[in-house]
Amino acid sequence: MTPKQVPAMLDLARKFPKVHIAWWGPTWSAVVTHSDTIKPVLRSTEGKPFTYDLFRNWLGDGLLHSSGKKWHKRRRLLTPAFHYEILKGYQKVTNQCTDVFLDKMSQPAKDGTTVDLFADVSLLTLDVILRCAFSHETACQTTPNNPYITALYRYFDLFMDRVKAPWLYSDWIWQFSGNARETKAALSVIHGTAKSVIAKRRAELADAKSSTIEELLAPSEKDDTITTTKRYPDFLDILLLSRDETGAPLPEQDILDEVNTFLFEGHDTTASGLVWIMYALAKYPEFQELARKEVDGVLDGKTELEHDELGKLPFTTMFVKECLRMYPPVPLISRRLPATFQIPNTPTLPSSIPVPEGGQCDMFIYALHHDPTLWPNPSEFDPYRFTPENSAGRDPYAFVPFSAGPRNCIGQNFAMGELKTVTARVLKRFELVEEKGFEPKPLFRFVLRSENGVRIVFKERK
Ligand code: HEM
Repeated sequence: MTPKQVPAMLDLARKFPKVHIAWWGPTWSAVVTHSDTIKPVLRSTEGKPFTYDLFRNWLGDGLLHSSGKKWHKRRRLLTPAFHYEILKGYQKVTNQCTDVFLDKMSQPAKDGTTVDLFADVSLLTLDVILRCAFSHETACQTTPNNPYITALYRYFDLFMDRVKAPWLYSDWIWQFSGNARETKAALSVIHGTAKSVIAKRRAELADAKSSTIEELLAPSEKDDTITTTKRYPDFLDILLLSRDETGAPLPEQDILDEVNTFLFEGHDTTASGLVWIMYALAKYPEFQELARKEVDGVLDGKTELEHDELGKLPFTTMFVKECLRMYPPVPLISRRLPATFQIPNTPTLPSSIPVPEGGQCDMFIYALHHDPTLWPNPSEFDPYRFTPENSAGRDPYAFVPFSAGPRNCIGQNFAMGELKTVTARVLKRFELVEEKGFEPKPLFRFVLRSENGVRIVFKERK
């Protein structure tokens, strides 16, 4: 979606409140933009429509793509990977990755130059997910041209080219394009890296003689030799040690699909979230100051934010939530339309539009979060919308940056912890200043980006 199309899509959502019809290449979809119309779709467990198939060559049938019994079983299996105790173990690593990012920002701060945030912040969140979920150290933040990172970004570019070209949606036609060959080459590096991370961990677990997740959750009572650097059970341990009701482990291909799914879902989304948070801090200095006061009070002279301090930042949390409303990192998600879906009465559409089986429904989260009937003065940035008093009585489906219902984001607690930790650490070290005259042009590129980048100035605090 180009920056010019974003206001046009918002206009459509205003003109046809709650739902409108849009064309996706050869097929149409019902675009829902209001909590009343989004709720029934999010509450269903319908699978994902054809547009998601375009990146199945990378993510396979992992949690994001799978449906029915397979999805249900897998979701149950993976939920313990986000257990409070496990997330607690990730806090140290998130702080360490943030240290690298902060040190990188000290040079432009010294020079007084503007930073275009997406590249550096994406490397930070990739570092966090690689180290937290897979205990895989790449030094990606400081080593340019890491082959895995290069292949990943090339894949994204090629994928977006395909999204923009509906005539290439057919796999049969696409296989003859140059982009298909390049995609295959990028995927071979991406899948190759994931496979070697998995193989290495298998060997480590075999050496440590750990065969259950419980043994890993109590490492101090056991032989604590999983690796020399890893001291907490991570997502990969859980994947490798999970057993179904018959005691069988996950098949190798399924493990690979989940590793790729979590790498993707776990870094591009948080990067978008953080970029817009830093932009809003710079743009609204009075709120920046309020958040900094709170952070200084909690950190009280130390630099690292502990896991149990995440709950002690009420204003910063409201600020983060307002950023997720104003700049939702995932602006649009899709489902197959539930057969029971009733398009409600609206002034512009009859109540009984026939819904074809397997039709597509796009939930336009960006428009939902800017709907004036749900959010008075939606373009005004106001963290106080999220005080407990102001939130009371609000439809829970009016604010869904992490989706909602049975297929909501499994990583949302992890993501909120990361957003708050990095935000607090940035506030502690730097003052963020808006670049004069700069206006980002929001762009939907799977996540919310900006065509002209997102630029701010870092100033080291005295
Ligand atoms: C600010 C950060 C994040 C945002 C805004 C976000 C948002 C979302 C949204 C909107 C969905 C629904 C997608 C759909 O229905 O097509 C989703 C699903 C998902 N997210 Fe996140 N996410 C974030 C971070 C993460 C992280 C850190 C992880 C993993 C560590 C993660 C893993 C997943 C997975 C696996 C799913 C699919 C869940 C399922 O279908 O059962 N996400 N996320």
